Amino acid sequence: MYNIALIPGDGIGPEIIREGKKVIEAASKLFTIGINWIEYPFGAEHYLKTGELLPDDALKEIKDMDAIYFGAVGDPRVKPGILEKGILLKIRFYFDQYINLRPIKLYKGITCPLKGKKIEDINFYVVRENTEDFYIGIGGRFKTRTNQDHLEVLRKLYKTKIKVNFNLEKEEEIAYQIGLISRPGTQRVVKYAFELAKQKNLKRVTSVDKANVLTNIYGLWRDIFEEVSSKYPDIETEFTFVDAIAMYFIQKPEWFNVVVTPNMFGDIITDLGAMIQGGLGVAVGGNINPEGVSMFEPIHGSAPDIAKKNIANPIATILAGAMMLDCLGEVKIAKVIENAVEKVLSEGEVRSRDLGGNSSTKEVGDEVVRKLKEVNIK
Ligand code: NAI
Ligand code: MG
Repeated sequence: MYNIALIPGDGIGPEIIREGKKVIEAASKLFTIGINWIEYPFGAEHYLKTGELLPDDALKEIKDMDAIYFGAVGDPRVKPGILEKGILLKIRFYFDQYINLRPIKLYKGITCPLKGKKIEDINFYVVRENTEDFYIGIGGRFKTRTNQDHLEVLRKLYKTKIKVNFNLEKEEEIAYQIGLISRPGTQRVVKYAFELAKQKNLKRVTSVDKANVLTNIYGLWRDIFEEVSSKYPDIETEFTFVDAIAMYFIQKPEWFNVVVTPNMFGDIITDLGAMIQGGLGVAVGGNINPEGVSMFEPIHGSAPDIAKKNIANPIATILAGAMMLDCLGEVKIAKVIENAVEKVLSEGEVRSRDLGGNSSTKEVGDEVVRKLKEVNIK
């Protein structure tokens, strides 16, 4: 029996989560596991009504649960950032979900924008560090004083009516933001990448950095990658610069198995990954703390433009549910769900509008449920 916190959120969130929940329930019946859903109303509607985003009491409750299944937040009526920071980022931070796991997988039936690439060519994981690097929030922005203020200071300082012989005409403004890599923070994410490779029987782990220019932080990243990799002699390793990997994702995606990356580069290359796997409708993200409570979600947002129309694609959310079960150790159920999704996509009779079909959100969910039984028998 698993206790799962359910946060459907805003926009298409409730519609896609409904299908995801339906599929998980149907699959869990086949395998006789039990799911106890604890649903929370957090999101724009709740915030506008009560002023509450995500209270600490709820976080404390969720701490004792097995995982969080999340739709999306964001609403045009609420200033950008409030819900995202107050709910999504708060959860990631509170539960120290230091892994962002992004499978980049092209399913049969999905059109790949890369010419000549087949489904077996695009099938790897990006493991993105999710708490450090340039996202720690240390920085500042300083506006230099006006020219007049400068002159006053100088006059006071030298107690004279000085003539300035340097240029104070231009206002100068500076800003800085600090990137930070910690030894334990890097160790844990690199270790996770190698454990993932081991568990999935994958032969290579690729490290991403920019150690040729940002020598300090990514120098430490490299040192730790080497230290950790020495404990996995059977797994091949390599270093790539982030600019080069952007190129290789397009040129030879088949090369990659597990890619481990610092936070900011990960942010960028996972979007590139989403595109080569066929877009937002199928891209999944896990915010994982292997020792704690993890959260699983589609990577797309709340899509207010198509909300409440029953046309959103629920596939990414359904696959996020499969990833959740996989991380909970229910590897077989996860695989059955994934196979059912793959079957629906490859047969192509039932597909949502973003994938070129005209099926509703509910029809796609129902079709995945129907296929569950077929793939399970096989
Ligand atoms: P979005 O991902 O919500 O939508 C981008 C485009 O893709 C839209 O045209 C939308 O209709 C389409 N789309 C997205 N998911 C789809 C699906 N499942 N099926 C069919 N079409 C789909 O990104 P956008 O429009 O930039 O952001 C909307 C709101 O979502 C904003 O408030 C944003 O802050 C929030 N957001 C929340 C995220 C989260 O909760 N994890 C992630 C990204 C954005
Ligand atoms: Mg991003």
